[in-house]
Amino acid sequence: MPGEGTAATEVVFVGEGPGFNEDRQGRPFVGQAGSLLDELLASVLWSRDEVFVTNVVKCRPPGNRDPEPDEIAACAQYLTRQLEVLDPALVVTLGRFSMARFRTGARIGQVHGTFRAAEAASGAPRALTFSMYHPAAALRQASLKQTLFTDMQGVPTALTEARALRAADQARGEPPAAIAPAPSPVAPEPPAIRPDSKPATDVTADAGVESDPTSQLGLF
Ligand code: URA
Repeated sequence: MPGEGTAATEVVFVGEGPGFNEDRQGRPFVGQAGSLLDELLASVLWSRDEVFVTNVVKCRPPGNRDPEPDEIAACAQYLTRQLEVLDPALVVTLGRFSMARFRTGARIGQVHGTFRAAEAASGAPRALTFSMYHPAAALRQASLKQTLFTDMQGVPTALTEARALRAADQARGEPPAAIAPAPSPVAPEPPAIRPDSKPATDVTADAGVESDPTSQLGLF
């Protein structure tokens, strides 16, 4: 199950792996955890249409068990390629398996609700990563639900920060993403720092973004 959303987005949410419902429907976060994700997005006036949602592992671990290290390793290349193509400014991780990819060695109890630069090996070397508990954790432990909503309030701020860092990189003439396509004949505009806090879904003017990312997403 590859994930879904807007290819030309600034924000990618990365969960753990498909559950029973996601496996059957071939879509991410369609069960109870997905309803909570929708509520979290709505709490900052965002919607799924404005982001991309995917997972660390692309197949359902039997019985909804945690993914094994070899399963995470087997799927890593797909997530890496998705991130390279999407080139998000912000990666929001849902749960510890996702967090571990972007923030090695961190403990979710200590870093939830905070952001920092994503590790380059994650596939999103130009992104910030914001760590959150997995929505399913709040379904099992009610006290985490308020924590999730509180943490979510910090996501638009992290996006604003990520945009500012990108604009500064671009102003310094930093190279675009590692897999950037051949330069376009039309000089791209630097991405604007928008006054609103919604993810832009028209970011193809950014030098680091494929001209037609959707064609590559079909690979997954
Ligand atoms: N949990 C996840 O981590 N991903 C999904 O897609 C659904 C539930």
